[in-house]
Order: sequence, then structure tokens, then C-alpha cells
Amino acid sequence: MKELKTATKAIFLVMITSLWLSIFYFKPQALICPSKSAGEESHNDKHYYNNEEKEQQGRAKPIVLLWYWPLGQRFDFGSCLHNFHVDDCVLTDNRSLYHKADAIIFFHKNIGKDMPKDPRPPFQKWIWFNVESPTNTVRKAGLENLFNLTLSYRRDADITVRNELSIRGPQMKMKDEFVLPKKDKLVCWIVSNNDPRTGTSMRASYYQQLLKHIKIHVFGTAFPGQWLSYEDYYPTIASCKFYLSFENSIHRDYITEKVNGPLVAGTVPVVLGPPRENYEEFFPADSFIHIDDFKDPKSLADFLLHLDQSHEEYMRYFKWRELYTAVLPSAFHKK
Ligand SMILES: *[C@@H]1O[C@H](CO)[C@@H](O)[C@H](O)[C@H]1NC(C)=O
Ligand SMILES: *[C@@H]1O[C@H](CO)[C@@H](O)[C@H](O)[C@H]1NC(C)=O
Repeated sequence: MKELKTATKAIFLVMITSLWLSIFYFKPQALICPSKSAGEESHNDKHYYNNEEKEQQGRAKPIVLLWYWPLGQRFDFGSCLHNFHVDDCVLTDNRSLYHKADAIIFFHKNIGKDMPKDPRPPFQKWIWFNVESPTNTVRKAGLENLFNLTLSYRRDADITVRNELSIRGPQMKMKDEFVLPKKDKLVCWIVSNNDPRTGTSMRASYYQQLLKHIKIHVFGTAFPGQWLSYEDYYPTIASCKFYLSFENSIHRDYITEKVNGPLVAGTVPVVLGPPRENYEEFFPADSFIHIDDFKDPKSLADFLLHLDQSHEEYMRYFKWRELYTAVLPSAFHKK
């Protein structure tokens, strides 16, 4: 449980980091964070300083209010600058700042009866924040025409927040050459969610069929599997030649850390999710194997067994690493 919490926290830190960058740098039409360079513009922005209090404050820091703690996880915001290297902003969970806040973030899962009752200040933007796929998002009544911006993993969201994997470009020459981690397993899968209500039946059935043709090391609690601690997560993935990056439900852009993990660890992800083209928007085309590349699970198993015998062919899946390198977002290293 502690491992899960640590991981969730790290993930949320990453989300928040991207969130800040997205709000304040990449989507200037959404909100402009007054800084030395942007200050003038913000000051003239009617949406921004159209109440007296704000006029008086002049260059007051924009306030972003987190109405709910996503997934119930609390952490110390500190200041924008300290945690997220973004200057001149205030992130708070203090609901008494409602009337002053420039933006309020509402985490979809938490939305309930305790939504703000007071009228919304005209300058204030409400941001709908969701991290789950449509299959796992409960429709809630009364949310229509409530929000000004969406915040999610989708690329067509107003603010896209993904559990980013940095793929360093060719301009940043790699110092260390990629060394293939020592492998003592062929195919692995770490899986804890096996609840069909979350859309998992497709991947469960694919796994059951694949299993008839190839040995799969399963970890986690979904199928009888060995329990793994968070510390074991990357080393375990690294010790396998292939990793089953099977998403729980299949939706556009819903491509999660299940792919990042093996790419960072030095393993070839075998993906089940949206079509290959969608994956290629995020990862090099030759860095993963897609189940759709095969007519059935047996053909996939045969191919993996073939690659197991041909080191040269297997190593082609690491060719992209001559130009790129996959690294974890820094929050993962902090603990
Ligand atoms: C919340 O903000 C109000 C108004 O600025 C302030 O009086 C109060 O002390 C704050 N509460 C906390 C817990 O920081
Ligand atoms: C935000 O959306 C609400 C509801 O559609 C709207 O009434 C309000 O004017 C919008 N506010 C801003 C600042 O865009």
C-alpha cells in the first residue's frame, strides 16, 4: 500500500508539473502567469484584472485553487517556484480563496455535493481534471456547461497532462551507450486490476490465449502472481525480454506508464490499446510490438519465440536508442 501511495504521489507530481507548464506556458490563451516578460500583457487582459481587488493588487500572483485532492493524496505544495520551478503563481487548497482564485481545478472522481455554492467570479476559470479513460469515468449529472477548460491525458484536451516520458532528441548526444539489461525471462506482465467492469476482459482474454503458446511470468494480484514492491518494479521489467503493456480499456491517447516502464527499463513493450498510429504519436515506431501487427495471439507468440532465438533481430528494437533515450520524469527519482 505504501508503495502504491508513493507511486501515485510521484505520478501526481509529474501531472502537476506538466499542468503548470501547460497552464502558464503552452496555453497562454488559457491563463497568463504574470512574469517580467508577460506582465504587461496580463495587466491589459480584461478577463484577468476586471475586479477591483485585482486592480489594487496590480501584479498579484494568479491563484489556482485545487478544490479536491486528486485520489485523496495530499502533498505539500510549497510555492510554485520551489516545487515546480514556475514563478509568480500560487497553488492552494484553501477554499476560502474561492472569490480570488483565477482558476479552480476539479478532479472528476471527487466531484460531488460540495461544489462551490457562491456565484462564480467573472474572471474565474473552472478546470475539469480527469485521468481515467472513458470506460472508467462515471458520468455525473449537472456538469454540462460548467467548465471552461479540460485537463486530461487526451491530446485534444485544453491542457494535456500525460505521464511524460522524455525522449531525448539527437541534438543531445548520449554519453553512455545503451547496454541491454541482463535477461532471464522471456515475457512478463505486472497486473493487479482484473475487474471486468473496468474494461479488462479484452486484455484478459488475449492473455489467456497467448498463454497457450508461450510462457508468461505474471506479477501482481490480478492472476495468481508474485507480489512486487515498488522498488522491484523496474528491475523486474528489465529482466524480461518482452513486457505486456496491456491497457485496461481501449481509447484514443489512453497510453499509460505501462509503456513508459519497459522503455525506460530497457525492455520491448508488447502493446494492447489504441491502434499503432496512436502509439507512434508518442513513441518511436520501432520501439514496441503491437498486437494488431499479428493475426492472432499464436502468431504473436511465434514471433516472440523467434526473436528469442535471433539476438540480432531482437536488438533492432533497441536501434532507436542510438538517437533517443527514454528517461523517467524527475519526480520518480525523488521518492
Ligand atoms: C485560508 O485563507 C484565509 C483567507 O485568506 C485565511 O484567513 C486562512 O488562514 C487560510 N487558511 C489556511 C488553512 O491557510
Ligand atoms: C466559464 O464558463 C462558464 C459556463 O459556461 C461561463 O458562464 C463563464 O463566463 C466562463 N468564464 C470564463 C472566465 O471564461
